[in-house]
Amino acid sequence: MADTNTPPICDYEQSPYRTAFWEGQGRDYEDQSERVALRRLLPPRGRRLLEVGAGFGRLTNEFDGYDQVILLDYSTSLLAEARQHLGTSDRYRYVAADIYRSPIADGCCDAATMIRVIHHMADAPAALQQVRAALAPGAAFVLEFANKRNVKAMLRYLLRRQDWSPYDLTPVEFVELNFDFHPRYIAHALEDTDFDTQRRLALSYLRVDLLKRIIPTRWLVAIDSILQWSGQIAPFSPSVFTQNIAAGSGPAGALDGPIFKCPACRSTALDIQDDRIRCQQCLNQYVIRDGIYDFKIPIA
Ligand SMILES: C[S@@+](CC[C@H](N)C(=O)[O-])C[C@H]1O[C@@H](n2cnc3c(N)ncnc32)[C@H](O)[C@@H]1O
Repeated sequence: MADTNTPPICDYEQSPYRTAFWEGQGRDYEDQSERVALRRLLPPRGRRLLEVGAGFGRLTNEFDGYDQVILLDYSTSLLAEARQHLGTSDRYRYVAADIYRSPIADGCCDAATMIRVIHHMADAPAALQQVRAALAPGAAFVLEFANKRNVKAMLRYLLRRQDWSPYDLTPVEFVELNFDFHPRYIAHALEDTDFDTQRRLALSYLRVDLLKRIIPTRWLVAIDSILQWSGQIAPFSPSVFTQNIAAGSGPAGALDGPIFKCPACRSTALDIQDDRIRCQQCLNQYVIRDGIYDFKIPIA
């Protein structure tokens, strides 16, 4: 039955994330470096990609080689913004859901990404488990995480300007529901959830206001593209991208099967109508509003 005991959510409903954090906010270097990393780590083509915490769809145009893209996010307002600029094509499925209670059918995707999202997860392994369940064996999963063992944190710790140790494996919650992770913590969590990590890239070493002001963005991105490879040996950058392959087994033929399962009872026997989804097993119903499949809370 429904798992109501899930961790707290960092809620972006009605947040001005796009305009307050990205558009015109001097983050072209970060945006472009992340695109470089995605192109290096994600197979360029595939059947169905799950974008976990897609937000307003900032990076979704990187997945044009996929037949279908599922944008999953807890915020319906950000998904509405994504739909406004990506459009209503059947290639996109806009899904409002909590990743801890994922409505994505087991094994139905051959790729997934989770960029700038796990830093909001109080229980990162539980979230990774849900992503792994949605993937077919052999699928690629690109995970970005905020690295607590970064140069700035190491220096601050050395100078006693920071009380938490960047070397300690436990995630640090520096602001409520914002976590930095040790690379080894993430490596163990990925291994425990049946992912084989193949590559790691170190991003955003140059995320320094002064550098961003005096060096043209294209140079910063070019230097970052070279520095990224150092992550394979040891990442000390604030952001790390990992390429992971789903190991173990999964349900046969699921890539051709249904996209959704009921987040409460996990049945894929769903009756999908124009404006609602009804689970034939537990009888929960979910609403489809303005092109967004809303699995957050069953309707009465
Ligand atoms: C910092 S934004 C990143 C958005 C996008 N990946 C990007 O890089 O532009 C984090 C996103 O994660 C989503 N999120 C946070 N907790 C979530 C959860 N439990 N389930 C689904 N989405 C979640 C938020 O709604 C938000 O859109």
